[in-house]
Amino acid sequence: IQWTDALRYRAYQDWPATYQASLQQTVAKSPWRTQTHIQPQTGLLNDPCSLNYLNGVWHFFYQQYPFGPVHGLKSWHHLTSTDLVHWQPSQPDILPDTSYDSHGVYTGSGYLEDQQLHFLYTGNVRDANWQRHAYQMHAYINADKQLVKDATPVIAAPPAGFTQEFRDPFVFEYEAQRYALIGGQRQDKTGAILLYRQAAKHDWQFVAPLKLPKRYCGYMVECPNIAFINGKVVLVFCPQGLDKSIFAYDNLYPNIALVADKFDPETGALGSNLNLQQLDAGFDFYATRLATDPAGQILAITWLGLPEIQYPTDDYGWAHVLSYPRILTLDAQDQVRLKPHPNLQRLRQQPLLPTSSADGTQFAFKGAFELVGTIDQVQPLSITVPAAAGEREPALQVTLDFEKGQGTLTRPANTTGGAQRTFDLPAMHESTLQLFIDESVFEIFLADGRCVLSGRFFGTKAPETIMINGMTQADELQAWQLQRS
Ligand code: FRU
Repeated sequence: IQWTDALRYRAYQDWPATYQASLQQTVAKSPWRTQTHIQPQTGLLNDPCSLNYLNGVWHFFYQQYPFGPVHGLKSWHHLTSTDLVHWQPSQPDILPDTSYDSHGVYTGSGYLEDQQLHFLYTGNVRDANWQRHAYQMHAYINADKQLVKDATPVIAAPPAGFTQEFRDPFVFEYEAQRYALIGGQRQDKTGAILLYRQAAKHDWQFVAPLKLPKRYCGYMVECPNIAFINGKVVLVFCPQGLDKSIFAYDNLYPNIALVADKFDPETGALGSNLNLQQLDAGFDFYATRLATDPAGQILAITWLGLPEIQYPTDDYGWAHVLSYPRILTLDAQDQVRLKPHPNLQRLRQQPLLPTSSADGTQFAFKGAFELVGTIDQVQPLSITVPAAAGEREPALQVTLDFEKGQGTLTRPANTTGGAQRTFDLPAMHESTLQLFIDESVFEIFLADGRCVLSGRFFGTKAPETIMINGMTQADELQAWQLQRS
């Protein structure tokens, strides 16, 4: 298929009824389909949008383009779950069907009011000259489970001095007042995060840009989030074009955390002690979305993909997956930690026993696998998903050199997102390791969530063993086969 603009923005109802069924057959032939991660039935998935808990059910929406592995006319796809691990497709989705979202229901977030689910999202519109117009839209799900969109935007234009690169509202509450953060860009092509206050139900007032140094915001910010933990403020955002001398990153676009001492909702001030931190050192992570669970814990879900990246699954009509839900905390040094949600333990089947050989310790599994352990830090350790027969390069390899305080991550070079990363190993007093492999996805959590490595890998056959080399007597590992979710 030649993905022209006309085709990518073709109205959903104009696709022949048989098209999606045939695309589904193509997807069904794909290697690399996952067992336990959220993946698109057909086409492309990107940002997680809203995650809210209502009447015992989690409602989750994410960005999708169901007609091909490209960024086309976007909508929100709706899933529900009672445990954040097993998900069912649900209704309604949020579709691009008004003049204010004609070129995409872009990213936003949800909030609860009067026991109903409400949303703020960005309506993306291209005019006759293909110029972008961004509208911030409100919608909600009524008692009959129908989606009701407002007839007009709640925020019709960015404030003076800002461009139409104005999107991804994140709604939050602070001291019993509702606010939103919106990603933006100044006319001088520097990024910003714009703070709005909900003055009345449909009345969102611009307060100020958050007081961040311009150099932290690249040329444009996407997908801002904020959380309040132990009296600290954690921002998670995507400053496209961030200068690598300000903060080092290896992916095409960064997704980072910033920890601050305070938040002033009147001015957007964040104090002067601003600390930028890496969220993940892997290949594929972007557009992390934060949410709060009923116990007040901060949840994080990440798109395990990036804009403008090509993967081998494209040839099979689908692209990208979402991370497992994680819990985000701050440690005593105000360092962000991410850990897999404990409900993932529900996927564990029989424990797997290792076999040992001269090459190391090996576990055999089918499809999806979890390894948990504590590791001694005396000698270098490597974890390998071995090469398929006839291949030279391993399908995936992580090496940890504790003496150097460095690790490497290597995958085959069959994506445009690079084949190797190096990362710093924090002084691992808590030398924990938790690793998940799911067909073409890995999620690795080291040092109690201080160091996270996420991404995709596309070997020539499905992974079925994992080899660990460099273990000592003191190491303790447990492993499980995971069941399809
Ligand atoms: C980030 C992003 C958002 C936008 C959405 C469109 O990946 O570009 O800024 O709302 O994707 O799908």
